[in-house]
Amino acid sequence: EFKELVFSGVQPTGNLHLGNYLGALQKFVALQESHECIYCVVDLHSLTATLVHDDLAEQTRSITAAFLASGIDPKKHIVFNQSQVMQHAELAWVFNCVARIGWMNRMTQFKDKAGKDRENASLGLLAYPSLMAADILVYRATHVPVGDDQKQHLELTRDIAQKFNNDFSGRIAALGHGIDMQVGEEKVSGFFPLTEPLIEGPVTRVMSLRDGSKKMSKSDPSDLSRINLTDDADAISRKIKKAKTDPEALPSEVAGLEGRPEAQNLVGIYSALAGVTRAEVLADFGGRQFSDFKPALAELAVEKLSPIAGEMRRISADPAYIDGVLRDGAGRAREKAEATMKMVREIIGL
Ligand code: ADP
Ligand code: NA
Repeated sequence: EFKELVFSGVQPTGNLHLGNYLGALQKFVALQESHECIYCVVDLHSLTATLVHDDLAEQTRSITAAFLASGIDPKKHIVFNQSQVMQHAELAWVFNCVARIGWMNRMTQFKDKAGKDRENASLGLLAYPSLMAADILVYRATHVPVGDDQKQHLELTRDIAQKFNNDFSGRIAALGHGIDMQVGEEKVSGFFPLTEPLIEGPVTRVMSLRDGSKKMSKSDPSDLSRINLTDDADAISRKIKKAKTDPEALPSEVAGLEGRPEAQNLVGIYSALAGVTRAEVLADFGGRQFSDFKPALAELAVEKLSPIAGEMRRISADPAYIDGVLRDGAGRAREKAEATMKMVREIIGL
């Protein structure tokens, strides 16, 4: 049986926001209690948009500081940056030769990011999910906490694992590298696990504060659309106060949020930050106006996020410490990744 292992990554591009926190970091922290975890700053992924980032090292430290400030323990778990473990790139190349072009062409994130002029997007942007599959499978990770936007990439990761397991089943068995796993009702044997995304929670996709139909994103030009992890109390309160809403009072039951994207988003954020269900939030706030709810949400957000921002500032003041954490993490990650790659090379005859 595979030992359960958690892997996830965050790109070192721009400020982390509340969506990243609730969709990813908060889950990373919770999973430490029950699982062995590997958390990665995926700097190679950031090359798919722009090859040269003048501040890549700075951004990598900033994401690392956010991991640590949120409560990830780099001694019990592994924190590192992707480019320091070249086995990710090596396995990605193997996966480029396993995956089919048609699979990549279907990825909605590729279509969004490439825009109209798809022929001029980088080949790296197209192959991004193949590198992401390698990030996960080079550790044979079984669970990946991510936001809802990554669901399709996780499905592709399973497709790649499954095709590799099928294509090389004879060699995997002959070399004794297969491991039994449960897939639904079936027991199957293979080399790579069929990794499961961990997407559940009260908000799997935090939406923009200005437009309930768009996800909160680093790349949104409006700073009012997102709460950054580094925002101070004033900025957090101001953004929540200005958040778009409808004119109705809050419903007293979850079903009443249907068709009200802004209400759904703000109630979901409250619920995720407070660690209570949406029903519990509505038991308190049902029938009340947003003018009552928003100050309570702002207070809660400040209470939960300010300590993280403070810790980020404290940790960021010591770049040598952060670099030490990354170096130590890379050493431990490399050992695990190389153990997998030794077997992969045997399986494919390299
Ligand atoms: P971004 O999507 O802002 O460019 P990344 O791609 O580095 O950031 O995503 C880091 C993690 O944060 C991923 O697990 C992603 O699913 C999650 N995430 C990003 N935006 C949101 C959001 N609005 N709601 C929930 N999770 C999100
Ligand atoms: Na994303």
